[in-house]
Formats: sequence, structure tokens, C-alpha cells
Amino acid sequence: MYTSFEHKNKVHIPVLKEEVLDAMNLKAGDKVVDATLGLGGHAKEILKAIGKSGHLYAFEQDERNLKVAKENLKDFTDQVTYFHYNFASLKTCLSDANQPCVNAVFFDLGLSSPHVDDPARGFSFRSVGPLDMRFDQRRKLTASEIVNKWSEDKLVQIFSKYGEERMSKTVAREIVSRRKDKPFETTVDLADFIKYIKRNLHEKKDPATQIFQALRIAVNNEMVVLADALVQAIDAVCAGGRVVAISYHSLEDRIVKNVFRDLSRDLEDPNEPFIHKVIREKQVSVLTKKPIEPSAKEVSENPRARSAKMRVVEKE
Ligand SMILES: C[S@@+](CC[C@H](N)C(=O)[O-])C[C@H]1O[C@@H](n2cnc3c(N)ncnc32)[C@H](O)[C@@H]1O
Repeated sequence: MYTSFEHKNKVHIPVLKEEVLDAMNLKAGDKVVDATLGLGGHAKEILKAIGKSGHLYAFEQDERNLKVAKENLKDFTDQVTYFHYNFASLKTCLSDANQPCVNAVFFDLGLSSPHVDDPARGFSFRSVGPLDMRFDQRRKLTASEIVNKWSEDKLVQIFSKYGEERMSKTVAREIVSRRKDKPFETTVDLADFIKYIKRNLHEKKDPATQIFQALRIAVNNEMVVLADALVQAIDAVCAGGRVVAISYHSLEDRIVKNVFRDLSRDLEDPNEPFIHKVIREKQVSVLTKKPIEPSAKEVSENPRARSAKMRVVEKE
């Protein structure tokens, strides 16, 4: 039913590769976390920079990407500890590994190329696939469950909050009405239906883009874990260490920006507005006033880099 896809042959070109290495400020012997291993593109460069005495703790919740990454990094086996976990478990895993603090944590958020290219994963609205969209296939919730079972109110909420979709109410209402007669089965079925509903709008992006983004974020609970994991990462780095995060859409970037900004200021007790009592001291300095973006050359060579924004903080 779905186009076949040879996962192992696919590559993911690491985005902002040189800029990431500069921002992480690595030296031989460093201990580093790659929170989003993917196929190991950035990880390989990090491992070369930290050398044989360094160690990488790598998180990847997608089993197939993890398998490919292990193969791609087979020359570095002794230097890597792999966690087939969500980066929400960052602190627990480092503590289980008896690693009190690390020199840098790296996040390269979102999808890897095989997710988009493999129709069977259901992330792309351009080729026929099941409404799945799970990064971690051990989890139960799929996009199909959301589209075919969730209430209209909940659909409006996720479409507007996670998709910033202007027509969230109309799209949710029409989906709920159509699914009574015929549940949505495939990505293209849903995408064509959204296109039909939005036929009078002349948007630059594909009309299904925002709704697919919202579904993916909801399926993987992405926004909820991201803010928490960034705080954990800042907690986990040693003094002078760095946290580097690349995001690919405005919601993600806003979370990164806000967490970094909040932790770069003293927190005063809101119940004592005149005393200015500090209840949590500033933990980091923001090193990127504006996010670092790929050059025109990088975008022309790798169009998937086009929306990347990298932000960096250094621990006090
Ligand atoms: C953009 S790709 C990373 C690509 C990688 N830097 C490389 O060069 O190959 C993001 C990866 O992070 C994984 N991922 C996304 N959210 C995650 C999470 N919360 N915990 C662990 N892995 C996650 C995805 O499955 C995907 O493989």
C-alpha cells in the first residue's frame, strides 16, 4: 500500500555543522550529551572533537534511527552510551551513569530526513502513508487516534496552539463531520481534505502544513517535554559548559528563547515585589542575542536547513 523505503541507505545532513562545533566549545576529554542523536551526523563530529578520552551520552527515541546511528558510529563504540529514551529522561540517565555534570548538551530538534522520506511513518503529506507520526513506536497515541477520536474542542486547541492554524475551528468542525461517515485512513486523504476546506485561501505553504505540524507535536508531546528538558540540560552542565539548541519552527524557537532568557536572570520572589528578594540566581549567560541561522549556501545545498535557528547559553 505504501511506497517502500530503505531506511538504512538514507542520510541526514547535519545542519549548521561548523557553527554547532564552535558553539559547543569542545576540547579533548569532554563529556557531552547529544539529546537528539538522529543518524549520528553531529555526534560523529562531536566524537572527533572530544577524542578517545571523551564520552558521548546519546538519546534517541526512534528505534530505527538509533540502529542506523550505532552503525554509523561503530568506530567510536567505547566512547558512546546510547539511551533509547526520550530526552525527558536526561537527568535520570546521567545520574544512573554516575556522570555528575557534562561539558555540553546539544539539541537538534524535530524530524530527521528518514522520518520525512519514509511514507510508512506518516509524517509527510506528500506521499500516501498511515496516520502515525510517532517518533517512538512503543508509544500508543497515533495521529489516526487524534484525527478520528479526539473531540472537536481538543482538535481546535491543538490546531491553534501547536499549528497556529488560522482556520482551526473550521478544520476541526469539518474533520469531525467527515469522520462520522468515513474515518481518515491515510496522510494524503487528510491532506487532500484540508486542501479542499481551505480551497479559497491562497497560502504560500501547502494548506496541510500547519495541521500536520500540530498533529506531530501532539502525538509526540513535544512542547511539554522540550521546556522541561532544556531546564534539565542547564542543570546538567558543569560551570562554563554550554547548551546548544537548534529549532525548526517558531513554537520551538520561542520555547528555547524563553527558557534561556528566564534562566539568564535572577528570579525575584513575586510575593515580595518591593524587597527584590532573589529566590533563584541567574544560571546562564545567553551567548546568542539573535539566533544563528544557516548561510544561503548551506540552504541551497540542504533545503531542510532553511528554517533552522540555533541558540546557545553558557553556564555560570
Ligand atoms: C533533526 S534529527 C537529529 C539529526 C542529528 N543531529 C544528525 O545529525 O543525524 C532529530 C532526532 O531527534 C529525535 N528526537 C526528537 N525528539 C526527541 C526526544 N524528545 N527525545 C529523544 N529523541 C528525540 C528524532 O527521532 C530525530 O531522530
